[in-house]
Amino acid sequence: MHNADHPLFETQDLGVEYPARRGSDAVIGLTGINIQWRRGETLGLVGGSGSGKTTLGRTLLGLQQPTAGGVLYRQQPLSRALATRSFRREVQMIFQDPYQSLNPRRTVGEQVTEALDVHRIGRTGVERTALAVAAMEQSGLAPADRYWHCYPHQLSGGQRQRVVIAAALALGPQALVCDEPVSALDVSVRSQVLQVLDRLRTDHGISLLFITHDVGLAWAMCDRLAVLNQGKLIEYGTTESVLGNPQEPYTRALLAAAPQPPRRN
Ligand SMILES: Nc1ncnc2c1ncn2[C@@H]1O[C@H](COP(=O)(O)OP(=O)(O)OP(=O)(O)O)[C@@H](O)[C@H]1O
Ligand SMILES: [Mg+2]
Repeated sequence: MHNADHPLFETQDLGVEYPARRGSDAVIGLTGINIQWRRGETLGLVGGSGSGKTTLGRTLLGLQQPTAGGVLYRQQPLSRALATRSFRREVQMIFQDPYQSLNPRRTVGEQVTEALDVHRIGRTGVERTALAVAAMEQSGLAPADRYWHCYPHQLSGGQRQRVVIAAALALGPQALVCDEPVSALDVSVRSQVLQVLDRLRTDHGISLLFITHDVGLAWAMCDRLAVLNQGKLIEYGTTESVLGNPQEPYTRALLAAAPQPPRRN
């Protein structure tokens, strides 16, 4: 099922060091990271707080400059991809807190179509509206007209995260970096939002980078896992091999700290 061709993203001895500031030393964000994020897969990025997960996600998107090594996107240096108009459309990020990504003063419909305007997708307003409606309904905001005129504060946290997902999906992305996408949500809506994300992969072939500190979620969602600890890659392989037979004490400790024994459903 997975395309065995070249990976979508590849890091080569990637390092990020945050510069020293007055009164504090430089901080190692990442060091010596070599991973591949393949097309159509969900790659999990697991690790404790401060292990470098967000730093890695931001670096893949070009939001953070590497200080060592580099990133390839489709086998080209990331700098080349960043110079194109299409990269921002092809690879997008979903954050823990949907409020961070939404404008409180714009309706849902405005925000989802705005993304299309910015990227000049769709020839007419009618076409853009149709694309926005489809993306909203695929994200579980159905029927779309029920939500179209709502402002973010009129929605639940789960619905807001679906709006963010719809705005991303409308652009026809290749890949989504999801940074703790359900951590801020009530448990009752988490599994629905996770299902929406999982369907992006199965129905649209979108590659997911799923960042989480929750080993149970990683087990349920991911094909392969990269475990980070203090900026270093300490385990990397299929989810079954990493969690079924953890080699590192750190991974065993993460598993032991999981609220329930992770289980695939
Ligand atoms: N902008 C920054 N300036 C300086 N140091 C930073 C910056 N961003 C992150 N760091 C440091 O880099 C390290 C990795 O941080 P990062 O945010 O990538 O961790 P994380 O795994 O995403 O953690 P969490 O699970 O808490 O979100 C931490 O030591 C953090 O303090
Ligand atoms: Mg983080």
